[in-house]
Amino acid sequence: MKEELMRLKDKTIEVLSNSKNIDQLNDLKVKVLGKKGELTHILRGMSRLVPEERPILGKMANEVKESLEQKFSEKAQVLKEALKERKMAEEYIDVTIPSMVNLGNKHPLTLVLDEIRDIFTGLGYQVMEGPEIELDYYNFEALNTPKDHPARDVQDTFYITEEILLRTQTSPVQVRTMERQQPPLKIIAPGRVFRSDAVDATHSPMFHQVEGLAIGEGFTMGDLKGTLVAFIKEMFGDDRKSRFRPHFFPFTEPSAEVDISCIACHGEGCRICSYTGWLEILGCGMVHPNVLKNVGHDPEKINGFAFGMGVERIAMLKYGINDLRLFYENDLRFLRQF
Ligand code: FA5
Ligand code: MG
Repeated sequence: MKEELMRLKDKTIEVLSNSKNIDQLNDLKVKVLGKKGELTHILRGMSRLVPEERPILGKMANEVKESLEQKFSEKAQVLKEALKERKMAEEYIDVTIPSMVNLGNKHPLTLVLDEIRDIFTGLGYQVMEGPEIELDYYNFEALNTPKDHPARDVQDTFYITEEILLRTQTSPVQVRTMERQQPPLKIIAPGRVFRSDAVDATHSPMFHQVEGLAIGEGFTMGDLKGTLVAFIKEMFGDDRKSRFRPHFFPFTEPSAEVDISCIACHGEGCRICSYTGWLEILGCGMVHPNVLKNVGHDPEKINGFAFGMGVERIAMLKYGINDLRLFYENDLRFLRQF
């Protein structure tokens, strides 16, 4: 019987250590240690033993039983751990794998606005904002453009009431800023503007401008030109041709418009540049004394320059786009190129 017990123990430990999962292990446990298991079967033979041997065998059987139970529970623990690890490995999520194949990108107008902002903040300009729904006073009156002024005809205006309108330019931000901040100051004001212009390749009823204003003491037209030439070179590269052309704005004197050689024909003349070879990108000039007076400055002491550029026109030149309507159609084939 001793030998039988030892054999059972050794055999069980061998099979047990090869168990692949909990079910196999439990089956084995029942088969060996269960009520009708192999150990019980061996113990039945006790009756054949002489009485003195029974306690010795009984003790031995208990030891075998205990040590096997110990082995079973150890193995069960090992199998449970292994199962847990396998599950963790199967359910592992790599959070570093990029989930989106098609990432969005910035709209070309946003890219150009960002670049304009970077160039001017690099020159020490502050970024300001003003309302799109504006008072007639700020859009025209304070900018030396009274109600009967012929210049109002050039900017066809969407009126909401007689005194409230959609701003036709970002210039009202000049006035709003000067009312609040004392010179010296240098600001740019990006934003949307609205005009009842007919739509074509270079005109839209809603477009973007960036206003610029620098006031302080002793500014000259040379400062204005130097600033804008620096901007144009930074934006378009050293070899892009530009020209200053005398012009009229009610709120600047003297005034000029700045053109850049046409992207499509490089100056030969084509449909895009109305056969002139040039594209107008901005208006500018020295701030008119009346505008300075309207915000309480003495034009003998305080002066400065201002400019206002069309963002769509600049984006067209920068990226070689020949129709501004492409900016608003949201055609992904177009937008993904930037
Ligand atoms: C003005 O709006 C003046 N406020 C600019 C200015 C500011 C002058 C400060 C002096 C001092 P203008 O109407 O020319 O000017 O428009 C400025 C720029 O906006 C133009 O050079 C052009 O690039 C762009 N622009 C004008 N109309 C449209 C339009 N319908 N669609 C797209 N861009 C336009
Ligand atoms: Mg103009």
